[in-house]
Amino acid sequence: MKRILVSGPWITQKEIDYVTDAVTNAWYENANIYHERFEKAFVECIGVKFAISLPSCLSAIHLSLLSLGIGPGDEVIVPDVTWIATSAPISYIGATPVFADIDEKTWCLSAESFEKLISPKTKAVIPVDLYGNIPDMETIRNIAQRYKIFIIEDAAEAIGSEYKGHKAGSFGDTGVFSFHGSKTLTTGEGGMLVTNKENIFHRCLFLRDHGRKARKPGDKMFWNTEVAYKYKMSSMQAALGLAQLERIDELVERKRQIFNWYQSELGNIQGITLNYEAPNTKNTYWMVTVVLDEKFGFKKEELISLMSEKNIDCRPFFYPLSSIPAYKDLKQVTQAQQRNKNAYKISSYGINLPCGMNMTKEKVNYICEALKSILGLS
Ligand SMILES: Cc1ncc(COP(=O)(O)O)c(C=O)c1O
Repeated sequence: MKRILVSGPWITQKEIDYVTDAVTNAWYENANIYHERFEKAFVECIGVKFAISLPSCLSAIHLSLLSLGIGPGDEVIVPDVTWIATSAPISYIGATPVFADIDEKTWCLSAESFEKLISPKTKAVIPVDLYGNIPDMETIRNIAQRYKIFIIEDAAEAIGSEYKGHKAGSFGDTGVFSFHGSKTLTTGEGGMLVTNKENIFHRCLFLRDHGRKARKPGDKMFWNTEVAYKYKMSSMQAALGLAQLERIDELVERKRQIFNWYQSELGNIQGITLNYEAPNTKNTYWMVTVVLDEKFGFKKEELISLMSEKNIDCRPFFYPLSSIPAYKDLKQVTQAQQRNKNAYKISSYGINLPCGMNMTKEKVNYICEALKSILGLS
């Protein structure tokens, strides 16, 4: 069996046609047509008022924090288990990330842990829709409202997911998405910021274009009123994103199909936990993930190297942020390490299995057989 990689996109003639058209025609007076179409379609898809296409989800989180007025001395609560892109922009703006535990079932931010960590310095929380799931958003929103804390919903991994009939990304003051090559919808690299608040929308537009206001006839050109950023997506990326977005239902269905193949092979095995889907949630399973019972005696790194010997590429469950060297100098990491029991337990025994868009049932069967034989189950 050829090496099976963990993730990758599904590109059709539609994407090739749109990108070809963008590189051929999206210049001069048409320079922005694909951005406009992509953002308009995105607004409709997520059910929000405004969307801004960006070069990455990281930049969307950075702009969210800046536009909400968060800065030095403030604290922002994030789940301990996520990709560092969720928390890195908190440091960029001189604020402090505070690491909360995750929920045992959803693997997303624990509402209880979030509430316990609120201090007078807490200005925002960034719940993460980990691996395509959605946390207990209703409770998180109620807590945030009670304490007057902003929400930035990190939906980088969750395009198309739903919670109580609403789309991932629509639950916060801002919502942010990633279109990295590994994601369900890709633009190669790219991101989107969505919001329902007009003032945040305009502030983000201003900040992502070197602190320039939209010009009216007669205004001076190159007249920057603040030192800001250059965060823009190219037309070719926007065209790719638009083509993918027009296929979003089929992309999401493919992800759910891949998960179902895994579930039928592994779902009934004692000691193997797959991604959870609450009754009121639609999980889009960006990463099919298994968490193994300690009784098997395998930590994730060992399992990944044994799977690799069988030509299967897996990824470790994200390490708790409070465990990685990047944050060793943060005062609160020792407390977080002791406090965040779920984060440490789940992360140690979790791996992401291959679930790129090119997966087939045969490949899934091969992977499940390999996993079972390593675990001594076949
Ligand atoms: C949870 C989460 N947040 C943020 C990001 C950052 O996305 P990007 O690489 O587009 O900046 C990622 C990317 O993988 C992610 O998984």
